[in-house]
Formats: sequence, C-alpha cells, structure tokens
Amino acid sequence: MKTDQKRWDERFGKKGFALGKEPNPFLKKVIHLLPKGRALDIAAGEGRNTILLAQHGFEVDAVDISERGLKKAKKLARGKGVKINTFLVDLDQYHVEKERYDLIANFYFLKRRLIPRIKKGIKKGGKVIFETYLLEHRTLGTEGPKQAKYFLKPNELLRLFKDFRILFYREGIFREGGKKKAVASLIAEKR
Ligand SMILES: C[S@@+](CC[C@H](N)C(=O)[O-])C[C@H]1O[C@@H](n2cnc3c(N)ncnc32)[C@H](O)[C@@H]1O
Repeated sequence: MKTDQKRWDERFGKKGFALGKEPNPFLKKVIHLLPKGRALDIAAGEGRNTILLAQHGFEVDAVDISERGLKKAKKLARGKGVKINTFLVDLDQYHVEKERYDLIANFYFLKRRLIPRIKKGIKKGGKVIFETYLLEHRTLGTEGPKQAKYFLKPNELLRLFKDFRILFYREGIFREGGKKKAVASLIAEKR
C-alpha cells in the first residue's frame, strides 16, 4: 500500500538503523536448527535478519515495500561481505513462487492474508520462522504498532500454522535487548 511505503520510507530515510543492525534474538538463537538452502525474508526492512541468514549460508531473497530500507540492507550486507537479493514489492499483491523456499522468515509483520501464500512458497519439509507482537504488548507502553489488526490474539499464530508440524512455540512477555515485549514465536515444518 502506498501509505505504508511512505511511512516506512520516512522512517528508514533517517540516519542510522531504525530497527538496529543486530538480528532478532530468537532467530539468532535458533538459526543452527534451520534447514540451509534458499530463504525468503518477508518484510525484511533494513535487513538485520536477512544478513544473519546470509552469514549462515542461506541464499536469501529479501522483500519489502520500502526502497530506503532495502537500500540500507544491501549496503549493510556489502559491508559485512555477504550477498543478499532484494525485491521491492507490496506484500498485498505479492505471490510467493510455489515450493521455492527451504525457509521463510516473517518477523514483526502481520498480514493474515499472506499466510496461505507463505505456506505455498515453502518446500515440503521446509520451515517457517515467525515472530511478532501479541495484543498484550499494548499494555506495556513500549514501542510497537498502533492498530489492533497488527497484533496476534492468544494462540492465533499456533492456529494459523496448525496444518504444519509445530517444532517450537512460545507466547508471553520477554525481556530482550533491555526491553520488554509481548510476542509469539514459532518454528513450523511443512508436511
Ligand atoms: C516492523 S518492520 C520489520 C522489519 C524486519 N522484518 C525486522 O524485523 O527487522 C515492518 C516492515 O514491513 C514493511 N511493510 C509494511 N507494509 C508492507 C507491504 N504492504 N508490503 C511489503 N512490505 C511492507 C515495512 O517497510 C517494514 O520494513
């Protein structure tokens, strides 16, 4: 959506990295358990997770609506000596190629209509890794989205992937990087 693009380009257009250069702590902790091969980073932003995946030997495609975010991601990847592929896309319109990926990563982006497309894009035996905010996050008064539609309801993420084999799931309030956040995290395998 055009308004999303404007908002995120403005945010990523500022100096520094709005979401930091450090990868997501959950991804960092479990990356050794994930199948190597071709990965897709959904709504990759400034590329903090894309780069970690590339550093661990994945051939990674990063998709996002923000040109500024993807430019920063490319630059950061070059600086770290890894190659990533970036694609400027609107995920409202995007169709993931059938069974193309060994891994799809979805961090801090919630578009429920995209879930069937994510599932289709994963190879049999491939995995999805997903983490985003729970509704409870709004009570913590820390950073995060504003609109209720961007938050997961209790057990919602679990239900969204109930036709996959759930390998890891957690929900709750966690302290990471010195900040409290209410999130659900999942790793699931396509059968
Ligand atoms: C909170 S950021 C998360 C970025 C990244 N996944 C991370 O964890 O660092 C949300 C991202 O969604 C992207 N985004 C928002 N709406 C989008 C859309 N319709 N299509 C593609 N990307 C979108 C934004 O540009 C932004 O990079």
